[in-house]
Amino acid sequence: MAGPEPPSVAPLSLAESATDTASKAHEQEINPWDVQAATDEQGNTLAFDYAAISAKWNTSLINSTLLERFERVTGRKPHRWLRRGLFFSHRDLDRILDIYERGETFLLYTGRGPSSGSMHIGHAIPFEFTKYMQDVFDVPLVIMLTDDEKFLFKEKLTQPEVYQFARDNAKDIISIGFDVKKTFIYIDSEFFTSGYNRHFSLNATEFEKLITNNQVRGAFGFDGSTNVGSNAFAAKQCVAAFASSYPFIFGEQCTSYHRSKKLAAMACLIPCAIDQDPYFRLVRENCSRMDQPSPKPALIHSKFLTSLQGAGGKMSASNPNSAIYLSDTEKQIKNKINKHAFSGGQETLELHRELGGNPDIDVAFQYLSYFEDDDDKLATFAEQYRKGVMLTGDMKKECVGMMTAYVQGFQAARVKVTEEILEEFMRPRKLEWRGNPNPTKK
Ligand code: TRP
Repeated sequence: MAGPEPPSVAPLSLAESATDTASKAHEQEINPWDVQAATDEQGNTLAFDYAAISAKWNTSLINSTLLERFERVTGRKPHRWLRRGLFFSHRDLDRILDIYERGETFLLYTGRGPSSGSMHIGHAIPFEFTKYMQDVFDVPLVIMLTDDEKFLFKEKLTQPEVYQFARDNAKDIISIGFDVKKTFIYIDSEFFTSGYNRHFSLNATEFEKLITNNQVRGAFGFDGSTNVGSNAFAAKQCVAAFASSYPFIFGEQCTSYHRSKKLAAMACLIPCAIDQDPYFRLVRENCSRMDQPSPKPALIHSKFLTSLQGAGGKMSASNPNSAIYLSDTEKQIKNKINKHAFSGGQETLELHRELGGNPDIDVAFQYLSYFEDDDDKLATFAEQYRKGVMLTGDMKKECVGMMTAYVQGFQAARVKVTEEILEEFMRPRKLEWRGNPNPTKK
């Protein structure tokens, strides 16, 4: 267990000491709106330091003891992204395992800010992982698409644009294979005006009353010139973690003024990238102060996906050469990997044969490690690469094959997602799930 969480008023920047102005070095910056790796004195980008951010924010690192328990309790092998540390940190995941062990239901919650219409593989991974968690635990899932957030925070985007992005993104998300019986997807601007949002709104207003401008400013680095909507938005992303915000999912009345005590007491697990943690610290710190207190939502945090340019880079929706998009053709994937994927190989064939390559910084190998499920096969690639037997071109070829298969599988599913299917996922309704088939509860 980690110690107490730092108050959300702690500054988010890891840059605590003043940096030397003559040097180009800066510390890493991680917050919901800005993610930048550190640079050295020459201005070279360094890899993210995930141990540092975990220590700074007092999250718990996922270790083999926790993964062993996960496997024992769920009967499922931990996903390769757990085994390989892509999902590397958590808050109270052990408590979620207790709940599942007892056969109780919890709410799974994740989301996406629809800042563009085209998603890349880095966007797909948290949803692939969420689907795995839904399959493992068999619990209800809500997916929040924050078109309001993107409109408030991005100066250039209009409301019709972000709404359309949200619809397009929702179809991409559905293509990942979520079960409609267990999944409610909503777009904020639509759900908040639907007539089903009464309890969500009551929760949001109550939460808005509990937190002060100073708390929000401290948590997110806002100041007096930040628009009012941005200040208020955090409450919505927070109360989205309360099952009592969605009585219809559990077959409870929405029209009654009173929120359900039983639902307020339900636990929640949120898979998200580590940069979203400040939001959820805010809800963890304040949820016990609600009139009907909710338990602290549990979190499972991922690292950032490496851009094609290598460690420290982030895949970007605005730079097509930084990432493989879910809409890319086979030819585009091949070109991007061959031309832009940072190589851990040596300058010349002779040197590579002699000295070997470094898979740890090789982007083609990194992408293979995201998608190749066979641990032995992956270990062989790494070993052969280090020995100089496997060449950069060989590694890239493996990667192109893997990525093409993934993207083409995705695209085959995507063409089947009609407007009707989208509407069904977004219809407020009672969900159906099974939960733990073998609870240990007496
Ligand atoms: N703020 C997130 C973003 O910009 C979107 C989001 C809302 C989210 N709720 C979430 C992400 C829960 C992860 C988990 O992408």
